[in-house]
Amino acid sequence: MSYTDINSLNNYLSELKPEEMLRYCSDIFGPKLAFATSLGLEDQVITHMICSQKLRIRIFTLDTGRIFPETYELIERTNARYRMKIEIVFPESQDVEKMVLEHGVNLFYNSIEQRKLCCHIRKTKPLSKVLSGLDAWITGLRREQSVTRTGIGFAASDDINNLVKINPLIEWSEKDVKDYVEQFNIPYNPLHDKGFPSIGCQPCTRAIAPGSDIRSGRWWWELPEQKECGLHK
Ligand code: ADX
Ligand code: SF4
Repeated sequence: MSYTDINSLNNYLSELKPEEMLRYCSDIFGPKLAFATSLGLEDQVITHMICSQKLRIRIFTLDTGRIFPETYELIERTNARYRMKIEIVFPESQDVEKMVLEHGVNLFYNSIEQRKLCCHIRKTKPLSKVLSGLDAWITGLRREQSVTRTGIGFAASDDINNLVKINPLIEWSEKDVKDYVEQFNIPYNPLHDKGFPSIGCQPCTRAIAPGSDIRSGRWWWELPEQKECGLHK
């Protein structure tokens, strides 16, 4: 999709509610559209919007092998609630074996380069494989989440994976997300009530004090400008 098309798609989507955006995208991108869920609160909202409207949008999660037990349990509860199966996508086992043999299982604490290598092997490479057959993908990104996300629109061009990226909740606040979850009694990760507003892999996520930056518990040893794993460059 060209730059001007992305701009006009973005303008069109900005007039719609997130539910309507998802329906519209499902119509225009058809089966070549998928939603990437980390099972975070925003993602649970989008899963609810997709399933309650019975939209035929694939829903997948990247299982890095290092996610929290609570997240696995939430996958099961979400599947049961919406009578579906979230697709679980794994990294290549040879890639993980080679990386761990060379650098150790907890390489992410050694340096930013090794942290990025782990995110590449366990997240971005498997993501690219899924996206290679698609025209568009959906995420639960919100502008408010981070300094690295302030310039993002409803529709963006994903030049790395060469497709369109749709961010229906980009303008929502944390309160909007929480209110929606409560209104529709959407299943969510119990860690959110224990100081984890943003949940990624277990060794790279910790609880934060009330009022702290919501992503300060992710890769807490790195600077805010560096905190992207490569899924959202
Ligand atoms: S991350 O890049 O720092 O890990 P974050 O946790 O804020 O991302 O999630 C932002 C969006 O990226 C989610 O709403 C979801 O669309 C996608 N995402 C993040 N992690 C995963 C995952 N493990 N599997 C699938 N999608 C993911
Ligand atoms: Fe590896 Fe941590 Fe990235 Fe997960 S978040 S893929 S454990 S570096």
